[in-house]
Amino acid sequence: MKNNPLPRLDEDRRARQALLKDCRLAPGQIWLDTQTGHKVGCLDAADAEDINNLLAGEKAQLAVHDPPYNLVAFQQRKLDEFIQWCSQWVNNTIAHLDNDACVYFWFGADQNNGFQPLPDFMVMMRQFKELISRSFITMRNQRGYGTAKNWMAVRQELLYYVKGNPSFNVQYTDIPKVLKGYYKKINGRMTENSQRSKSQCIRASNVWVDIQQVFYRMHENVTGCYAQKPLKSIDRIIQSSSKEGDLVLDFFAHSGATLISAETLGRKCYTIDTDPVFCEITIRRLERFRKTGETGWQNNHPFEESAAE
Ligand SMILES: C[S@@+](CC[C@H](N)C(=O)[O-])C[C@H]1O[C@@H](n2cnc3c(N)ncnc32)[C@H](O)[C@@H]1O
Repeated sequence: MKNNPLPRLDEDRRARQALLKDCRLAPGQIWLDTQTGHKVGCLDAADAEDINNLLAGEKAQLAVHDPPYNLVAFQQRKLDEFIQWCSQWVNNTIAHLDNDACVYFWFGADQNNGFQPLPDFMVMMRQFKELISRSFITMRNQRGYGTAKNWMAVRQELLYYVKGNPSFNVQYTDIPKVLKGYYKKINGRMTENSQRSKSQCIRASNVWVDIQQVFYRMHENVTGCYAQKPLKSIDRIIQSSSKEGDLVLDFFAHSGATLISAETLGRKCYTIDTDPVFCEITIRRLERFRKTGETGWQNNHPFEESAAE
């Protein structure tokens, strides 16, 4: 394994600045993938005109958004300003959804600060009557914090809403069913749950404990990114809540995880980030995947080749 990582780009402003010359997008620009029709925009999620330019009249069947959570790690704003900002990009999402569509929001709750912003976001969402709440999912991270004087914090929250009546495809984990029970008579014979079930593995529920958090040894790791979601989690969302050929939106690209999942699952993805460096990483990740089959750089440098030029 090569060890030539980029530093966290939110913390090392000089490293980020040095990469700008290698970025093909400037603010306001959109990259169009001529092979599958994906788009990557250096755009602002809260700007209605930017989003109109991105969609150009198309409708999306799925949106998977992972905004900064207003925690100290991501430039904290006043809570009401943050929620107001969220309502703008939610509005921009709803304006471009198909009649039947699904929307997922990754979120966090600061246990040292009244659990903001998760509950405030949930309450704000009630104003959008088009979106109906469907599930409040928790994904378990492996690395936690606060273990000495508190319960280890390992939660990663995911909210699921629908518009209209989209289909839902049940997903199964790789976890074998070990508990027996739930007896029921079928054709006069008493059966237990595993005799009646469609799979030997348990269904994915609203608690996900089977997804490995991304770390530097994993092939999908993208160095420089500080908030990367595991591809397995995005795959689960896309497979449960969209069909092949559907359009998936992600307004907070960062490492480009949603784009890679969409590519492997035969969906089209329009994704944006305000930062040209994360847009470039997102495009390079797709190009690298197509060239090598690798989903990330493990502990290597996404700009290594251009740095050597
Ligand atoms: C939590 S990260 C997303 C992580 C992503 N799901 C992944 O797996 O890599 C949030 C991203 O949102 C971007 N961002 C912040 N404000 C934005 C805005 N107004 N419009 C678009 N992107 C924004 C940041 O630059 C950052 O890359």
